[in-house]
Amino acid sequence: MIKKIFTIIVLITSSLLAQTVRYKPLIKVEQNQSSNFTNKSIERKIDSILSKMTLKEKVGQLVQIVGEPEYLENLIKEGGVGSILIGTGIPGEVNRLQKIAMESGLKIPLVFAHDVIHGYYTIYPIPLGEAASWNPDIVKKDAHLAAMEAASQGTKWTFAPMVDIARDPRWGRIMEGAGEDPFLGSIMAAARVEGFQGDDLKDPYSIAACAKHFVAYGAAQAGREYNTVDISERTLREIYLPPFKSAVDAGVATIMSAFNDLNGIPASANYHTLTEILKDKWKFKGLVVSDYNSIGELVRHGIAKDKYEAAGEAFLAGVDVDMVGNRNIGDVYSPNLEKLVINGEVSIDKINQSVKRVLRVKFKLDLFEHPYTDTTFYKTYLISKEERENIVRKSADESIVLLKNTNNILPIKKDIGSIALIGPLANDQKDLIGGWSCAGNPDNAVTVLKGISNKVSSNTRINYVQGCNINDSVETGFEKAVSSAKKSDLVILVVGESRKMSGEASSRVNLDLPGVQEKLVEKIYGLGKPTVVILMNGRPLTINWISENVPAVLETWFLGDQAGNAIADVLFGDYNPSGKLPVTFPRSVGQIPIFYNHKNTGRPAEPNDKFTSKYIDSPVTPLYPFGYGLSYTTFNYKNIRIDKSKISKNDSLTVSIDVTNNGNLEGDEVVQLYIHDRVRSITPPVKELKGFKKIHLNTGESKTVKFKITPGMLSFLNKNLQPVIEPGIFDIMIGGNSVDLLLTSFEVEK
Ligand code: NOJ
Repeated sequence: MIKKIFTIIVLITSSLLAQTVRYKPLIKVEQNQSSNFTNKSIERKIDSILSKMTLKEKVGQLVQIVGEPEYLENLIKEGGVGSILIGTGIPGEVNRLQKIAMESGLKIPLVFAHDVIHGYYTIYPIPLGEAASWNPDIVKKDAHLAAMEAASQGTKWTFAPMVDIARDPRWGRIMEGAGEDPFLGSIMAAARVEGFQGDDLKDPYSIAACAKHFVAYGAAQAGREYNTVDISERTLREIYLPPFKSAVDAGVATIMSAFNDLNGIPASANYHTLTEILKDKWKFKGLVVSDYNSIGELVRHGIAKDKYEAAGEAFLAGVDVDMVGNRNIGDVYSPNLEKLVINGEVSIDKINQSVKRVLRVKFKLDLFEHPYTDTTFYKTYLISKEERENIVRKSADESIVLLKNTNNILPIKKDIGSIALIGPLANDQKDLIGGWSCAGNPDNAVTVLKGISNKVSSNTRINYVQGCNINDSVETGFEKAVSSAKKSDLVILVVGESRKMSGEASSRVNLDLPGVQEKLVEKIYGLGKPTVVILMNGRPLTINWISENVPAVLETWFLGDQAGNAIADVLFGDYNPSGKLPVTFPRSVGQIPIFYNHKNTGRPAEPNDKFTSKYIDSPVTPLYPFGYGLSYTTFNYKNIRIDKSKISKNDSLTVSIDVTNNGNLEGDEVVQLYIHDRVRSITPPVKELKGFKKIHLNTGESKTVKFKITPGMLSFLNKNLQPVIEPGIFDIMIGGNSVDLLLTSFEVEK
């Protein structure tokens, strides 16, 4: 007992001494971390430690343990583990384990990791939702807030951001990324990395980010989780690699290798992507960690006959750390890497290179100097609850997309007499924080019912009825819903998926509203009351009937803790919606994959020509296109113009457009810039997003929005996959979504 008390006192004192307050809380992230991930003094220290390490200790740094198996303490003492995928909310435990490491062998600190995807305690919108804000500043702020909370609990490494481009909404993990577009995805990837990592990784409230899943995981065939990916090298480079490159340029400390087979070579054994592209071409100096047992799974993939071979394949391809070094589960690098070195199949130099990468991240995080978590961190650094709520509410406000608003049925007057609030998600707390919600507590989440109650006048009656569960097959709750609707002035239906229906291992073949929810909407709508549908989901859903019939539809994804307040902000006009879809909404599963930056084909769809690229049983167009989203006001685009009609290959030009708010409310608009190269040696996409600006306009106000068109925006990969600009005509298109665009063109001269 005395020993235990002594240990606790030592721990508390050492942690306090170790991390005295050195920095002010940094919610404003000023600049990104230098992408130069090495510096001389750190490299010297690394070399010195390395020279003292045994092979066993070196391999230990390349092993990550998940959770706390009973042999963990001994393993730490022996130097057999470098990092731990730990639970949440246990700084004392993190410090206890760290103390063992810091008092053993070479005193190399452990780094503790967790999936901090869209918040730690405070939960902000799912990444797909936040991408709909088209506002990298809020994304960065939220990631920083998450980093602060994570760091306060000893988690100094997050397995985020997920930067996989996803063009297939059947794939459940689409919710974790920024959607279908490499340009938007790259902006969001950098914003998240900068948010998590702050100005400097050594700040106590910065954590190491991990861009995942390298690479092309989002292209899983048929949208089926963990499925094979077979794409061209061109598609890999044009679509799937750019957000990773952006994360690397933003200084991301770590990268995770993916589960999927990529063109016959699993991503976790892919020398081409991991070494040739990532480490050699991009000069990435951080570490590569495998996904959860993705090295062990090389056996099931059929490229290794056992774990020994799997270890060799992954390690030589460029995976530095084996996630899940636990005995009997993964344990691929341990003990096989040692054997591979002894057998001469892996050089010690190669091992040293990987160990250096691990130690580099630990030095960058300042863990050698400050290995312990300050248990008073929370009080010292964290901003107030109110500030946190304001930040995530703003993100939630900006993430909402108004899909439809016939006859301006929205916004609703706050003194409306009565509202029927119906649907399985109307009074839900647990689903609206979304999947991957870390240590988020659903009890903190504001329901739609609560959000509306906070907003309406004291005379307004809210007649709440659940109507059905998310996945119900019976309609027994409909009757009550009908009577609630009948006695109300307006109906709001809150329908969608449960949080578990998207995220990892949650692919769907059917993208309709689950259960009898659509029937509920149809029934209630049939009563003839003004009706609003609020959707909550982690992916685009096929909502044709709703879209055709219901006058007002809001896409709200899973908005996190402040969901109810944010939805009410929009419903009642305290926030004028500005979100734009980061992903195309299909009409049916049969249209998938459907994305805006497709090729033209030799026979683009013509309504009166059967023999063109389309369907005989569905329109070829999506239900809602990429970049789409309405506002309560209207924005008029006019006068698109360029300052030069001809430029040389190395030249730039400026395109300008006048945007006017000609409606009755102030609002934000995302002005989107698309480019189309008319003729080139490789078939061009019909258009590609190359820039955007989110602007605020008061009623009647006009702004001229300018974009600089630089050579980089005009180049593409030629037949040899080399970036080139070919002379010819380029179209520039600007507008409020990927379809309604004004066009001008210019020429790049020979
Ligand atoms: C598997 C997931 O694919 C990955 O994204 C996650 O980081 C790890 N599990 C660890 O939880």
